[in-house]
Amino acid sequence: MKKAGLLALALMIWLLSLPSLLRAQTSSYEGEQLYQIKCGRCHFAHSPKKYSAEEWKTVLKEMGPLSGLTEESDKVILDYLTQASGEKERGSLPTSPVVAGYLYTEFFSSEDSTDTFDIHYLNLNLSGRLHDRVSYRAEFEFEHGGGEDEPPFIEQAYMDVWLFRNTALRIGAMLTPFNRFDDLHGPLENFLVTRPQTSREIGVSAWKEVGIDLHGNIFLHKNFFLNYNAYMINGLGSGSRLRASRQYQDNNDAKSLGFRVSGVIADRWEIGASYYTGAWDNAGQQNLSLYGFHFLTRVAGLDVFAEYSHSLSENPPPLALGKADGFFIQTSYLLAGKFRPTLRYGTLDYLDPGNLLGRQPTDFDSKIICLGWNYYLTGAIVFKAEYNFVQEGKRKEKKDNDLIALQAAVRF
Ligand code: HEC
Repeated sequence: MKKAGLLALALMIWLLSLPSLLRAQTSSYEGEQLYQIKCGRCHFAHSPKKYSAEEWKTVLKEMGPLSGLTEESDKVILDYLTQASGEKERGSLPTSPVVAGYLYTEFFSSEDSTDTFDIHYLNLNLSGRLHDRVSYRAEFEFEHGGGEDEPPFIEQAYMDVWLFRNTALRIGAMLTPFNRFDDLHGPLENFLVTRPQTSREIGVSAWKEVGIDLHGNIFLHKNFFLNYNAYMINGLGSGSRLRASRQYQDNNDAKSLGFRVSGVIADRWEIGASYYTGAWDNAGQQNLSLYGFHFLTRVAGLDVFAEYSHSLSENPPPLALGKADGFFIQTSYLLAGKFRPTLRYGTLDYLDPGNLLGRQPTDFDSKIICLGWNYYLTGAIVFKAEYNFVQEGKRKEKKDNDLIALQAAVRF
C-alpha cells in the first residue's frame, strides 16, 4: 500500500508540472538562456568565468553533441560563453587540457555497521582537443582514501575521433553506456547520497570498461533528437555476482556488445532503452544479457528520474538461469534555487543459483525509500542529508537497518 501511495504521489507531482511543457520551445531563446537550458539539463550550468574562450571550445566539443546542439545553437552558446568568460583569451593553447573534478566526504550511520566518515571519491579529470577531429578525456579516481585495498583507478581514459559534427568513435576506457544513472552518479548529478540498488547491482555503477563506442545524435525535428551509443567492450567477467564482475576484467575471447538509444524532447524529456549481451564465464559459453529503460524530465524546478533494469545470466546445466530485476523512481524539487528535497523508491530482486565458475549463489530482495534534503551553497557546493527507510532486505531481517547518510561535495 505504501508503495502504491508513493507512486501515486510522484505521478501527481509530475502531472502538475505538465503545463510548462507548453513553454518548452527552446528555439526562441538566446545566449544565456539557451546556455542554461541546454547545458543545465544534466548538471548545473557551470559559471562562464570558469574557463577561457579556448577552454570553452574544448568543453563544447564533447558537451555540445551531448546536449543536441545544432551548428547554430552551438555558435550562440559559444559566443555567449566567450563574451561572458571575462577574458577573451587567457593565452591557453587549444592543446592545453581543461582541468576539472570533484570530491566528496560522507558519513554513514546504521545499526548493523560501524558508523563511519568516508572520503568516498576524489575525481580529477583532464579533457582536451588535439585536432579538429580528435578530443580526449583522462579521468582519475581515488576511492575511500586509496591505500592497499583501493588503488587509484582510471575512471575514464578515451579519445573521441569525430567522424562528423555529431558522431564520434570513442576508443579507450569509458563508463559503459548501459542505463542512465551511471552518467549521473557524480555528487552534483545524483541528488541523493546513496545510489539506487538496481544501479549498483544490475547497472553496476560505476561500470568501467575498455573498448570502442560509436556515439552521436540524430536530429528528427528542432525539438527532438535521438542520442545513441553502440559499443563493443571486453564485458563483465565471472565475479561472485554482477557487481563483482566489473572493472577491467577480461576472462574470455568473446567481446560484449551493447547499445543505448534515448529520445530527447524539447531538452526536458528523455526516454530511452539500453541493451547489453556477452559471455561472462572463462570459456565464453554462458551468456549474460542486460536490458533497461529510463525516463528523465526536468520541468520548472521539478525532476523525475525513473529507471528499470533486468539481467539474465546463463549457468551451466543443471543450474537454472540467474535473474535480477528492479527499478527506481525518484522525484526532486529545487526550492528557492538552494534547497532540494528528494524522494526515491527503489526495489531489487536478485536470484542467481550459480555456484560454479566463480559465481556464488546470490539471493536478495530489497525495497528502500530514501528521503533526502540538500542545501546548495552554490551550484558547485552541496551539503546533503538522507534517511533510508529499509522496507525489505536481507539486512532488515536481522535488525532495524534504517540508514542515515550525510555528504559534503564540491565540483571544481
Ligand atoms: C546529457 C547530459 C549532459 C549535457 C546535456 C551536458 N553535460 Fe556537461 N557533463 C555531463 C557529464 C556526465 C559530465 C561529467 C563528465 C565526467 O566526469 O565524466 C559533464 C561535465 C561537464 C563539465 C566539467 C568539466 C569536464 O569536462 O568534466 C563542464 C564544464 C560541462 N560539463 C559543460 C557543459 C556544457 C557547456 C554543456 C552544454 C553545451 C553541457 N555540459 C551539457 C553531462 C552533460
